[in-house]
Amino acid sequence: MPSPPPVRSSRPRTPEAGLARHADHGRADCGPVDGGRADYSRADCRRADCRRADCRRADGGRAGYGRADCRRVDYSNVARVYDLLSWIYTGGQIARLKRSQAARFAPGTRVLYTGVGTGEELASALDAGAVPTALDTSAAMLERARTRLGPRARDVQFHCDDVFAHEAPAPYDTVVANFFLNVFAQEVLPRALARLTELVRPGGLLLVGDFAPPLAHPVERALQRAYYWPPLVLFRLLTRNPWHPLYDYRPLALGSGLTLLAHDCVRIFGFGPRWLSTLSFVKTPSPSNAASSGNAASSGNAASSGNSPNFIQGADAHQR
Ligand SMILES: C[S@@+](CC[C@H](N)C(=O)[O-])C[C@H]1O[C@@H](n2cnc3c(N)ncnc32)[C@H](O)[C@@H]1O
Repeated sequence: MPSPPPVRSSRPRTPEAGLARHADHGRADCGPVDGGRADYSRADCRRADCRRADCRRADGGRAGYGRADCRRVDYSNVARVYDLLSWIYTGGQIARLKRSQAARFAPGTRVLYTGVGTGEELASALDAGAVPTALDTSAAMLERARTRLGPRARDVQFHCDDVFAHEAPAPYDTVVANFFLNVFAQEVLPRALARLTELVRPGGLLLVGDFAPPLAHPVERALQRAYYWPPLVLFRLLTRNPWHPLYDYRPLALGSGLTLLAHDCVRIFGFGPRWLSTLSFVKTPSPSNAASSGNAASSGNAASSGNSPNFIQGADAHQR
């Protein structure tokens, strides 16, 4: 397990007024996040406020969005009620979907959770012996994730940062994006997916847990869309999440050096179309690093979440 990084307790020098109006936390919020335990300082914490300067930094030639986009999304407003809303909306199936992903982790797997939110799935990753890194721009969300884990939070590296600015010491065995790619507008999505792919080592996995991609049958597709719109409207109002249609990440992913390994779906309350799913992609190893690609992909192949009638996997994955 990585030893906890030194605690940085430097006081912010910039005045509160320097923070953007929409900031997801002020100094007072940063305090408890840091509070002697956090592995990011207040200065880091302030970066997540998406001030314009930070946006420029996050953009810096790599990011998929400009300043205006960067300032739009802020999930801190909903941190306290996020889990409750998610549970009411899906009867707890989102949590179940996310926990089931841990079946793909071999002990020691380095997993990056992008836009981890309240970190519902972190405990299951730790139970599987994985080494999780939790990344989010919202300090309020991260604080909830940390509180949820209690003393086990020591075994997770928390980064209050933007995915485009995240400096990984090395690519991860697995990158998980649960309901994360949805925070990007349609024109930004390809770059966001490319960024996630960049963070995965060759031969590693990218797991995308989200609303299931639109189905072929028109009635099922209409039901999916009807189910998707209420949260879209709600989160648009509460977090400034961009409007966009129900995404299908598969065509984009296939053009980004990713191969679809499995598509695990879940029904809500056991009926209807496959509302939610995890798309498991493996990053195609280049010839030079194929030999060194480790166990993440193979453990993913071996793992099965098909022990529930609500899950589909394998051959069905490509048709659905
Ligand atoms: C819809 S929530 C999903 C949270 C969690 N993964 C889940 O499944 O419930 C999206 C999360 O992504 C975070 N986020 C938004 N933009 C981000 C970015 N550019 N980099 C990192 N995190 C971001 C938000 O703060 C929020 O916590």
